[in-house]
Amino acid sequence: MLSKKRLAIIGGGNMGEALLRGLLKVDFIKPGNVFVTDIRAEHLEALRQGYGVEVTPDNLEAARACDIVLLAVKPQIIKKVYTGIVGGLDEKKVIITIAAGVPTAALQALSDKKLRIVRVMPNTPALVLEGAAAIAAGEYAESEDLEIAEKIFQAVGKTVIIEEDLMDAVTGLSGSGPAYIFLIIEALADSGVKMGLSREVAMFLAAQTVMGAAKMVLETGEHPGKLKDMVTSPGGTAIAGLHTLEAGGLRTTLINAVETATLRSRELGQNQGKK
Ligand SMILES: NC(=O)c1ccc[n+]([C@@H]2O[C@H](COP(=O)([O-])OP(=O)(O)OC[C@H]3O[C@@H](n4cnc5c(N)ncnc54)[C@H](OP(=O)(O)O)[C@@H]3O)[C@@H](O)[C@H]2O)c1
Repeated sequence: MLSKKRLAIIGGGNMGEALLRGLLKVDFIKPGNVFVTDIRAEHLEALRQGYGVEVTPDNLEAARACDIVLLAVKPQIIKKVYTGIVGGLDEKKVIITIAAGVPTAALQALSDKKLRIVRVMPNTPALVLEGAAAIAAGEYAESEDLEIAEKIFQAVGKTVIIEEDLMDAVTGLSGSGPAYIFLIIEALADSGVKMGLSREVAMFLAAQTVMGAAKMVLETGEHPGKLKDMVTSPGGTAIAGLHTLEAGGLRTTLINAVETATLRSRELGQNQGKK
């Protein structure tokens, strides 16, 4: 629990609200110590009524009032928003940015202050409290700042700490990964329908199987190859299916997908990195 610290969430959209919900659910912070900003007045009012938090359309006011400032606006506007609040930031505050593809150095370059910036790449399963977030320290961030970021994102899932130059790989794998898995679930459900299952039953079986298999990897700590071998009996059904997947190049296709997405993230970041 963050006892006396105050948290500003700049941008109460999908990710900002998901974090707010998770943090309040695990009693990480009291609603009265959270300030949420947004540009839509009716949305702010709904957040105030729904969660009992302080709300304001004034980003600078929220940044001034708080010890931790979480930037949850779109990457396209983050520099404009950051420039608007930087006057309210100082070396005692922790600034956490989740804007995809925007390096901490790009924000650092917008002021002469040595600000403690932490960059995080979350993913959409944070909306159901099963996110995977990678956390990296900016130039002046301290280890306690990383711990604060870890606690915040552990309220909506699991976290790892990495070096910032690996953020593009994270974006290609876990940031974009839910899209790959949704495609796989949809395809598995289609295959069930083709084989005569109802859409509802096929979708449930596909999604629950993906979740169960992922849970086995995380909870047993076993290599997925070993877990695969446990399902694969000699001359059986699983090995017949696996043969078809290997013939279709599933492994290579997934590796290529993550590589392409990583390179695309790097390309987008190069534009963002410019002042
Ligand atoms: N969603 C994800 O899975 C995901 C994953 C990784 C990283 N991220 C990062 O998280 C950030 C937020 O993404 P999101 O999906 O939550 O976006 P979002 O739903 O659009 O949330 C952003 C919120 O900020 C509001 N806003 C716009 N201009 C503002 C301003 N000047 N001051 C304060 N608030 C303002 C938006 O209002 P309007 O809607 O009215 O414009 C919206 O409510 C992005 O930088 C994204 O790269 C998201």
